[in-house]
Amino acid sequence: MLQQPHTKYRAFAPIGLKDRTWPDAIITRAPIWLSTDLRDGNQALVEPMDMARKMQMFELLVRIGFKEIEVGFPAASQIEFDFLRRLIDEDRIPDDVTIQVMTPAREELIARTIESLRGAPKAIVHVYNAVAPVWREVVFGMSVSEVMALIERSVSQVRRLTDAQPGTQWTLQYSPETFSLAELEVSAQACETAIAAWGEGKPIILNLPTTVENATPNIFADQIEWVSRRFGKRGNVVISVHPHNDRGTGTASAELAIMAGADRVEGCLFGNGERTGNLDIVNVALNLYTQGVSPGLDFSHIDDIRATVEHCNQLPVHPRHPYAGDLVYTSFSGSHQDAIKKAFAARKDGDLWSVPYLPIDPKDVGRSYEAVIRVNSQSGKGGISYLLESEYGLELPRRLQIEFSQVVQRVMDVEGKELDAANLWDIFRREYHMDGAQGLRHRAQSVEGEGDQALTVLRGELTWGGQPVTIEGRGNGPIDAFSRAVAEAIGQPIRVMDYHQHAIGAGADARSVAYVEMRMGDSRTVFGVGIDADTTAAALKAIVSGMQRAGGADAQQAQSSVAEMSA
Ligand code: KIV
Ligand code: ZN
Repeated sequence: MLQQPHTKYRAFAPIGLKDRTWPDAIITRAPIWLSTDLRDGNQALVEPMDMARKMQMFELLVRIGFKEIEVGFPAASQIEFDFLRRLIDEDRIPDDVTIQVMTPAREELIARTIESLRGAPKAIVHVYNAVAPVWREVVFGMSVSEVMALIERSVSQVRRLTDAQPGTQWTLQYSPETFSLAELEVSAQACETAIAAWGEGKPIILNLPTTVENATPNIFADQIEWVSRRFGKRGNVVISVHPHNDRGTGTASAELAIMAGADRVEGCLFGNGERTGNLDIVNVALNLYTQGVSPGLDFSHIDDIRATVEHCNQLPVHPRHPYAGDLVYTSFSGSHQDAIKKAFAARKDGDLWSVPYLPIDPKDVGRSYEAVIRVNSQSGKGGISYLLESEYGLELPRRLQIEFSQVVQRVMDVEGKELDAANLWDIFRREYHMDGAQGLRHRAQSVEGEGDQALTVLRGELTWGGQPVTIEGRGNGPIDAFSRAVAEAIGQPIRVMDYHQHAIGAGADARSVAYVEMRMGDSRTVFGVGIDADTTAAALKAIVSGMQRAGGADAQQAQSSVAEMSA
């Protein structure tokens, strides 16, 4: 790259609209949307859509709710022409949808275009020609007056031909292509010429493209406000914008343009289109939605829409694409996960949406909460415990969350890959010895004494360090009795410092999960976890789990089986 880029590139000159009003405007309603997936989008594909894909795309656009759809460039190729004919001849265009077709300002192409629309109940004929200096001077070698003469000639031809097909309700769309790079007075003269040739008062759309994005979106907004003031108040004129995305600011350009007076926005689903693409209509529409404005387009099943678009375009949508990408509702960062988890827990039905890191409720676009949190080496306890809770019903006490997240971190450091809820559950079961080793199948207990003096008695057998050990203990309740019995048998005190229990599942499948925070002898403080249909058995299992975790080598072979106990 150059050290002195100004020797090669220059900044776009400001418009200098000093009394601009757009910065204070608030968008309170959706613009008219035009999908150009079947024209600008299709033209940009490595492999343009075949007939079946075109039809699928058209039907998808109708289902989403587009009322204006540019269906192609019928004079460009036979398939474009045939597709348009099928739509008309097979009566596939819903009454509330208007099709649009594009033609360059060339006599023979205009004639074939109008011909291709024969029998359509209503149609928008889109005529364009480039107006910016480099195109005028270098590409076409035309003066401004020659450009105006071309517009006059072309639009008059459209008028003559459409007048000859009165069964169709016609609208003209005129695009001064390369508008954002052109002198505003030249663009305005081009628009005036088109309006006059089409006929004052007849319906016309002035479509203003950033054919190539070349400046910051505020400059485009100034350009749109300037044109809007000039033409927007005429009842028959619709101001439309057609942003591209060369600077990655297509969405911003469209939004500021709406604030500046644009009534209509052209673009493609997920931003397909020439080079860096056309404006992504999904993005702008859902941005509106998250501001409380109904976009008039339905993206409730965004994954299905994405799949159809990927099939038709044979191009993937990036996993981080706004609103639609695979990863956009997923948090890997621990602090983000923690914040999301807390906000979900605090949320009540009917609350305004206010969940950190999620600008939209994933459910509104058909995504689930399951994918919201995933665990990788950047994650913390929040995400881990969220997944165990949402998928397996475990409400881990806070200190257990911390303990278990360190276990997960060690696994992650070794394996280095993302873990899903099922992986976490496996690690959890292994770490807390929840299979087999906790085989407390038979438990017997009794009570000695009465009232305040009553003591629970537990007797049984425990395998410890490979040896069977008989246990017997008395205490205030089964946990105390069991801890004492075990302590006596293995010669190490067991101290239960904290205890939590809750139910998982409901009805006949309900089980109890117990968490104990404990020490065995002078071991470190550890957690033990037990799950059982019986509340007491869950608690005893939790103690055995803690013993196994605290007991080091002995505990590797630890087995507990409280065999048939007698009181
Ligand atoms: O990007 C563009 O300028 C176009 C015109 C034909 C509107 O696609
Ligand atoms: Zn375009």
